[in-house]
Amino acid sequence: DASDIEKGTYAHYMLKEMDEQPAVIRNIIQHYQNENGDIELTEGVRSLVSEADRIYIVACGTSYHAGLVGKQLIERVAGVPTEVHVASEFGYNMPLLTEKPLFLFISQSGETADSRAVLVEVKKRGYKALTLTNVAGSTLSREANETMLLHAGPEIAVASTKAYTAQIAVLAILAYDIARANGKKLPFDLMTELARVATIMDSVMAQKEIFEQLADKFLKESRNAFFLGRGMDSYVGLEGALKLKEISYIQAEGYPGGELKHGPIALIEDGTPVITLVSQPNTHLNIRGNIKEVVARGAVACTISMEGMEHESDSFVLPRVEPLLTPLVTVLPLQLISYYAALARDCDVDKPRNLAKSVTVE
Ligand code: AGP
Repeated sequence: DASDIEKGTYAHYMLKEMDEQPAVIRNIIQHYQNENGDIELTEGVRSLVSEADRIYIVACGTSYHAGLVGKQLIERVAGVPTEVHVASEFGYNMPLLTEKPLFLFISQSGETADSRAVLVEVKKRGYKALTLTNVAGSTLSREANETMLLHAGPEIAVASTKAYTAQIAVLAILAYDIARANGKKLPFDLMTELARVATIMDSVMAQKEIFEQLADKFLKESRNAFFLGRGMDSYVGLEGALKLKEISYIQAEGYPGGELKHGPIALIEDGTPVITLVSQPNTHLNIRGNIKEVVARGAVACTISMEGMEHESDSFVLPRVEPLLTPLVTVLPLQLISYYAALARDCDVDKPRNLAKSVTVE
């Protein structure tokens, strides 16, 4: 429907697409659930994943970052060993493959040339592939054995937002379905928690002014920025850094907190913005230690934490979400902060320099 891709009253597609995220999650729940409230995947997808002894995720950019979260979900929930690879590296750095590998391509557009080249190669070798994409009928969808759709609606802004959260939700559904088939004990009720996540997303999106103020305070004038986190939070930090560099041209790096002392801390000086996520119960004390280390060297700390792990001085506290699903909510503040930082710096949010929405050349 053409009206779906109008900006309407929104200043930018990116803002509209960020706002659509709660509805996208609800849409995904509907599409992947049967009348009994159980997860339903096609027989084709189910038989592909049931045959695999290892899953090789292949993707680029934001979709790669969703893949890092997907690996954790598939390994921890379903117990299937999973690797994540940047598509452009895969061709000449192919890892050792197991006997029954399944290739899982994650791509919003389904047209990314680097991923397409890998798919051609793995098919030549007779392996099976499943594509997670937002575009039915796209090349990666047509050429793979099976497809799972993101149901996120058209994504127009170059900076990907709703596709990332959609990818993670669909990966969680896939992980749960494999776990159920393998008779694993499920850690929590996924569809109920996803519905709760959508409500929390609504509440975050209703507080945009907070992130506009944070962007003004921390990023308007800065040359560089750091994103820290541990575990799931470190993957979301990578995505936050990518978003910020793409649309605001601020040099941004995402690091796992423990890696700081092995080099990056040398770059911290007076006024360096450090944006940290604190949402993982098993590492929240360690990451607090990292925040102290950078503040002691002059950094200004913007901390996004989660209830139960919060400190008084935190910039924003998110409602508690299951640790495996936190990326669905922790990424929202980072997307919004990047958006408002780009606006504050007069950048063209929807069409950043040097970038194309889908990279169809290798
Ligand atoms: C994200 O904001 C990017 N513009 C980019 O990294 C993108 O995610 C990447 O090119 C992959 O695209 P795809 O998901 O359509 O394959």
